[in-house]
Amino acid sequence: MTDTVARAHEAGKTFANPGVSGAGQAARPAPLLAVHNVEVIYDKVFLAIKGVSLEVPEGAIVALLGSNGAGKSTTLKAISGLLGPERGQVTKGTVRWRGQDITRLSPPARVRLGIAQVLEGRRVFEHLTPEENLIAASTPIGNARRVRELVQMVYDYFPRLYERRNAKAGYLSGGEQQMLAIGRALMAEPRLLLLDEPSLGLAPVLVEEIFRIVQRINQEQGVSVLLVEQNARAALDVASYGYLMEDGRVRMDGPAEVLKANPDIQEFYLGGGAGRTSYRDVKHYRRRKRWLA
Ligand SMILES: Nc1ncnc2c1ncn2[C@@H]1O[C@H](COP(=O)(O)OP(=O)(O)OP(=O)(O)O)[C@@H](O)[C@H]1O
Ligand SMILES: [Mg+2]
Repeated sequence: MTDTVARAHEAGKTFANPGVSGAGQAARPAPLLAVHNVEVIYDKVFLAIKGVSLEVPEGAIVALLGSNGAGKSTTLKAISGLLGPERGQVTKGTVRWRGQDITRLSPPARVRLGIAQVLEGRRVFEHLTPEENLIAASTPIGNARRVRELVQMVYDYFPRLYERRNAKAGYLSGGEQQMLAIGRALMAEPRLLLLDEPSLGLAPVLVEEIFRIVQRINQEQGVSVLLVEQNARAALDVASYGYLMEDGRVRMDGPAEVLKANPDIQEFYLGGGAGRTSYRDVKHYRRRKRWLA
């Protein structure tokens, strides 16, 4: 966490609970999520992310941007604890939840704390209906009424899912499947939603629709969001703060408005076709690093 973040959080007053404590600063409550200096190694040899620090204050939508292979999904998995099945390990640093060190906590224990990750590629049970998908994702609280209420809440946010509630999820459109994946995460009653590239492969109008709904969920349910995206334009439209990753490190961070106004971000992430970076753009981006020095 940098001084920039502390200053921006204070200056913007966007956050209900600005993070960051340090020498000389007044004591403040710990942020909802604080990732500090985290390093992840896959297969005991491949260093995927290095010294990554970021914060999500209570009630905020924070964007985590970067091109292919930057380390965004790895960072999310370090937070949700889902590195194990991929033979990945946090080898340095800490992940804190409201000040509590959860770096070594099991994934189910993190879900119980209120952390829910929507994996990249909108994974749903294709042979089940949307309704069955939602019920299967509810945490086993044995409270049928609460499960019904949660399903209804998901339908209220995503009316398309209600319309298609009896179709097999495999036949839903990409956008509907993304809605269902987010809906499944909501069934765990999260306090923090980790969304991994929800815009992937979707038409801009649908991306906008889904992001607006995420924003409503944030505002109405008080669910904080860490939004991983290559589509910086869409993400910075709903987020109040953003981090930019490259080569496994955080290279830049700041309030969304400041990032949007940054000429280099504009050129590489906001310029041309709806913010999507083609492979050619990525290579071009990698060549030109003067702003990253
Ligand atoms: N399970 C794994 N085993 C080994 N290496 C991995 C694994 N998952 C990711 N990596 C590597 O770690 C680096 C970061 O990958 P990561 O998936 O976190 O990037 P990303 O920013 O999410 O990229 P994308 O936008 O393409 O999803 C990449 O070099 C990738 O090849
Ligand atoms: Mg990824």
